[in-house]
Amino acid sequence: MSEPLLHSCAPRRLYVQTFGCQMNEYDSLQVQRQLAALGYQPVEEMNRADLIFLNTCSVRGKAEQKVHSFLGRLRRLKEANPALRIIVGGCVAQQLGQKLLDRFEYLDLVVGTRAVNSIGQLLQQVEESGRRGAFLHDDGNCGPVFQPQEILPQPGITAPVTIMQGCNNHCAYCIVPAVRGAERSRRPGEILEEIRLLELSGVREVLLLGQNVNSYGRGLEEPIDFAGLLRRIVAETRVARIRFTTSHPKDLTEDLMNCFAELGPLCKHLHLPVQAGSDTILARMNRRYTAGEYREKVARLRRICPQIALTSDIIVGFPGETEEDFGKTMELIEDIRFDNLFSFRYSDRPNTRASGFADKVDGQAAARRLVELQGRQAAITLEKNLAETGSLREVLVEGPSKASHGQITGRTSQNRIVNFEGPVSATGKILPVRIVAAYLHSLKGTVSSE
Ligand code: SAH
Ligand code: SF4
Ligand code: F3S
Repeated sequence: MSEPLLHSCAPRRLYVQTFGCQMNEYDSLQVQRQLAALGYQPVEEMNRADLIFLNTCSVRGKAEQKVHSFLGRLRRLKEANPALRIIVGGCVAQQLGQKLLDRFEYLDLVVGTRAVNSIGQLLQQVEESGRRGAFLHDDGNCGPVFQPQEILPQPGITAPVTIMQGCNNHCAYCIVPAVRGAERSRRPGEILEEIRLLELSGVREVLLLGQNVNSYGRGLEEPIDFAGLLRRIVAETRVARIRFTTSHPKDLTEDLMNCFAELGPLCKHLHLPVQAGSDTILARMNRRYTAGEYREKVARLRRICPQIALTSDIIVGFPGETEEDFGKTMELIEDIRFDNLFSFRYSDRPNTRASGFADKVDGQAAARRLVELQGRQAAITLEKNLAETGSLREVLVEGPSKASHGQITGRTSQNRIVNFEGPVSATGKILPVRIVAAYLHSLKGTVSSE
């Protein structure tokens, strides 16, 4: 056993703030694990922290602005406590690097998305040298991606497991390939080992993460694809439920569709971002499928697994989007009837192809389209939730409900939230629940004794 790197009488207090996607949530957990080995314990209040780690997102302009304003607010804390250390990680860190250090002179360390596994070492360097720094990856100091980390007990019963990093798709609007790098998959043995360790700490459900999990396995020595990985997880672990995100429609294979019918622990929910309903826009986005192909895949999947829930992402106001193009998106959501939808107004991102497109959509027109889309989808989501009334669903209990006092909460296989009367000791169990009422964001149920 090596000595803890930092010595202190009292445990140091770490405050972690995470913006962005679930991959950032996963990275933040890894950071907490690394820093725990250096004697840092998480605290809930930022004002009490000795070290603040901010994990950032750059996917849309608004996400980046949030990071800048959060950083602005830290100035006062640092002035009040000059010993406070502040580290910025994640996608804005990767995007701006040294510029962040220049703009916010009270930051100690900027750690890019590929250096996050070396954060302990990097912090130690800063402590020893007293010099601030931005470490973005290939500077020779950083360990391999996905260094095995000691797994600490999980607070919840659901845990994220990143199975691949980066993305090779280059959708015209997207900054992710620039900030997360090229696609690379983790070895299956390492993923299985991590899931087994999580199980030992009480985790019942794993959420497999990647920007495009359908292309999992490319470049690995051992021949395996995503469907193969799912089958191995089911055969070699005892995890009760498996979810995954995100799938790219162009890479959704029949073999993966069959997994939904074949593998009991695989939850019957697929998040399949479509982005737009117009073929002209899809081509300009470089999505490499047509709306017709998307519809066909959905129809095939629903034949294979009729109970599957489908969710999606849509961007409105992509450069060149006409009223007619937008009409096709509306038609598509009408035809498919997604169970839920995440929709965004197009946002120009630096160095993306779309940021150079001339025919930008007027902001007001894009805002109006978003309101129309979200309004229609809310009605569809509610209709679909109402259709759940009377059905019997298996619910994995996650703990006390935040929304309804005295109730517990969990999710159906289709990823719908259900609140119901029950003991908190049922956390981690899968219970049969009769759905008695439905709302836009959740269902209400009663435990069934049948
Ligand atoms: N890898 C996933 C998700 C990437 S980011 C995928 O391929 O679908 C999550 C969502 O953010 C995207 O699906 C897209 O709908 C949205 N998004 C990405 N870049 C955007 C931009 N520049 N403007 C608006 N929305 C964007
Ligand atoms: Fe971005 Fe497209 Fe990759 Fe998703 S698939 S991360 S939208 S480039
Ligand atoms: Fe945001 Fe980076 Fe995730 S840009 S969406 S945190 S990959």
